[in-house]
Amino acid sequence: MRRILVTGANKGIGAAIVRAILDEYDDTMALLACRDRGRGEAAVAALVSERPAWRERLMLVELDVGSDASVSAAAATVGGALGSSPTPLYALVNNAGIGLGSNDVASVLNVNLLGPRRVCEAFVPLLDPERGRVVHISSASGPNFVNRCSPERQRFFVDPELQWSALEALIDECTKLGATPEAYAAAGLGSSDAYGLSKACLNSYTMLLAREHPTLRINACTPGYIETDLTRPHASGTSPAALGMKPPSAGARAAMFLLFGQPDGSGHYYGSDAVRSPLDRYRAPGDPPFLG
Ligand SMILES: NC(=O)c1ccc[n+]([C@@H]2O[C@H](COP(=O)([O-])OP(=O)(O)OC[C@H]3O[C@@H](n4cnc5c(N)ncnc54)[C@H](OP(=O)(O)O)[C@@H]3O)[C@@H](O)[C@H]2O)c1
Repeated sequence: MRRILVTGANKGIGAAIVRAILDEYDDTMALLACRDRGRGEAAVAALVSERPAWRERLMLVELDVGSDASVSAAAATVGGALGSSPTPLYALVNNAGIGLGSNDVASVLNVNLLGPRRVCEAFVPLLDPERGRVVHISSASGPNFVNRCSPERQRFFVDPELQWSALEALIDECTKLGATPEAYAAAGLGSSDAYGLSKACLNSYTMLLAREHPTLRINACTPGYIETDLTRPHASGTSPAALGMKPPSAGARAAMFLLFGQPDGSGHYYGSDAVRSPLDRYRAPGDPPFLG
């Protein structure tokens, strides 16, 4: 039985990934991670009411990716519950995310970048060392952010030798810059979009994590433009379809490819069509793959 932990899985794209795992792979168990037990129980109940047999392959894990204590406790719980297996987990999906349109750089980075790092530090030791996988749910906002940066900053984000200490220094710098667009422009950062910054950093972190764990497959993807509680408030007054938004099930497709398909290598970023894409500019679905 393969086991896959998905963070922020009580709704939206995370819930759709859990549902796709249960529906398409009956040899796989989903660890539905949620920061609120009540919301997690409601999500489990909704899946079980759809198909009662799924209860056997579902485990609820309380996990707030923004908190060191919560992530450590969740890893201890999962390690304890599945401890009889030498390799408790097949994969991790870092899906939890916040902050589209937010100015709060520190909070957005804490969930969207430091969150996946906390989860990886705590859960990678539980992964199957030979075939384990990590999937980061990123966003096209990342490459779009990098594209607006100065050439020097662009080189930073795509540097294959990038170190975590350099990303930490960038977090400090941006936290001090606050939300002033002029300050970001002066620093060569192009835009004060905290969400885009967090996803640009997440893609770079994916690259460096893959370098540190060469036997694992660690990749990031954008789900595409998906109608969820994250995007809906920005679409008021216009129909989701008119904006080109797709349902959460469509947002699970690239993640499912990175979990079960054959991505070419590790440390890469994929478009919503599950095709490799660059870290420093937008590649639209249907465009040729990035080969760099
Ligand atoms: N929708 C899109 O078009 C789109 C496009 C590109 C990328 N993405 C990315 O896709 C991922 C999922 O987003 P979504 O669109 O499905 O949004 P969503 O419906 O708002 O779901 C976000 C999920 O993250 C959880 N979450 C937030 N903060 C958390 C924390 N500190 N600890 C644990 N869980 C936390 C939420 O839990 P609560 O219910 O407890 O708040 C929820 O389960 C995000 O990483 C987002 O950036 C989405």
